[in-house]
Amino acid sequence: MKKSFGLVAGAALIALSSQAFAAAEVSEKIWVGKKIYDRAFGRGCGACHDISSNPQLIDLIKKGELPKDRFASVIKEGKNGMPKASAAIMAVGPVKKANYTEDQAIDAVYSYLKGLGDGSVPAGKLKKKK
Ligand code: HEC
Repeated sequence: MKKSFGLVAGAALIALSSQAFAAAEVSEKIWVGKKIYDRAFGRGCGACHDISSNPQLIDLIKKGELPKDRFASVIKEGKNGMPKASAAIMAVGPVKKANYTEDQAIDAVYSYLKGLGDGSVPAGKLKKKK
């Protein structure tokens, strides 16, 4: 009796902890968006945008201060210290694999950042819904 309780408690703990570290399931679009954010330019957009002196994309989108058309045009044309990013985005493996157009890829990374801001996308590991 005691022994089986220990086993059950152990199994429950393992189930709980693996759930805490499991990747959340998201749509292909959100998943590709995260890959773009993490991988474009090799080190990802965050190499610059996770630095507080650079524009805080998640916050700006959340506050309604960075509409998608401006987001897209800065990516396509660059702006001061912001390099043109179209080619870097289109070179990300999952973008090629999903066969996205440039506009679909930009929409994916915008939707990912918007989702982080409104809480519909959890921070951390994500996996693509099958
Ligand atoms: C080399 C550093 C660097 C990288 C890499 C970079 N950015 Fe930027 N980005 C900047 C800087 C600096 C600015 C501010 C430009 C300005 O307004 O003068 C900026 C501005 C922007 C803006 C405009 C914000 C606004 O309020 O108008 C967007 C959108 C943006 N970046 C998206 C991205 C995305 C998406 C990626 C990844 C694909 C990326 N950036 C990668 C440095 C970078």
